[in-house]
Amino acid sequence: MRIQKAVFPVGGLGTRFLPATKAIPKEMLPVVDKPLIQYAVEEAYAAGIREMIFITGRHKRAIGDHFDAAFELEYELERGNKTELLKLVHDIKPEDMDCVFIRQPRPLGLGHAVLCAERVVGNEPFAVLLADDLMLGARQNAGGPTVLQQMVEAYRSHPGTVLAVQDVPKEETGRYGVVDVHGAHAEIAEVFAMVEKPKPAVAPSTLAVAGRYILTPGVFESIRRQPRGAGGEIQLTDGIAALIGEEKVYAFRYDGKRYDCGSKEGFLQATIDLALANPALSAAVRAHMQAALAA
Ligand code: UTP
Repeated sequence: MRIQKAVFPVGGLGTRFLPATKAIPKEMLPVVDKPLIQYAVEEAYAAGIREMIFITGRHKRAIGDHFDAAFELEYELERGNKTELLKLVHDIKPEDMDCVFIRQPRPLGLGHAVLCAERVVGNEPFAVLLADDLMLGARQNAGGPTVLQQMVEAYRSHPGTVLAVQDVPKEETGRYGVVDVHGAHAEIAEVFAMVEKPKPAVAPSTLAVAGRYILTPGVFESIRRQPRGAGGEIQLTDGIAALIGEEKVYAFRYDGKRYDCGSKEGFLQATIDLALANPALSAAVRAHMQAALAA
């Protein structure tokens, strides 16, 4: 079955980025000139997905507005013959792309956010993208596949749940969902255990789940069966872990780079790398960094 729908949970509080995230979601923070959410939507679109489902929280408006027409702006750009800028604005939402917005009434966790998409997703496999993880396929700039494209391809030969994974330093396992697999070095391997944020001493491996998932509709019932964790949160990891043994769950080692833009450090790394990769900015940014480091 083809993956036709993508779910973007954007209802988190983004407390690590306060005060910037007081009135806008962290997914609207720009890396160079594009908000995080647009990178993720473009990644899903490149993977052939045309229905984008946003699970929003208190800050519903900014993301809705971003993917909506902006009549006054477009009128002014047209009047000023600013065709390139007009195209830039139009391309945010291609004609054949649909956007659906669902409100998550309270930020009860990622599992709860995914559950909010159940009615719109229905009985088919779907992708979940956490936009605060900015992912770049290794050869994406040269026309190579995005990370989600690689996963959709992997799903074709391995239908089931597909989790994007990467190796992390042992001392960092406590920040991720961590999987145990049969065949740790294979590109795609079956998962037989998954734990959320294990301490390094008890982590089953150093294979950590990044913010890209292909999920089956079976996950909804599985999430519903889970007891609430700390702070009343409903964890996606618990829902996926409970599927192991009932359905196939795979870990997929993607070829690319992940920036944790939910943290200041990762956000700055992404900003620097993408500015250096931008032909219009790289020379000036490089010169500035050299001067700043020499000062
Ligand atoms: P995080 O764990 O990064 O939490 O959520 P957060 O609240 O967004 O950020 P901090 O830690 O307070 O700074 C991971 C992803 O799950 C979404 C977030 O928007 C983010 O993409 N999420 C989390 C929801 O959509 N709803 C929730 O209830 C919780």
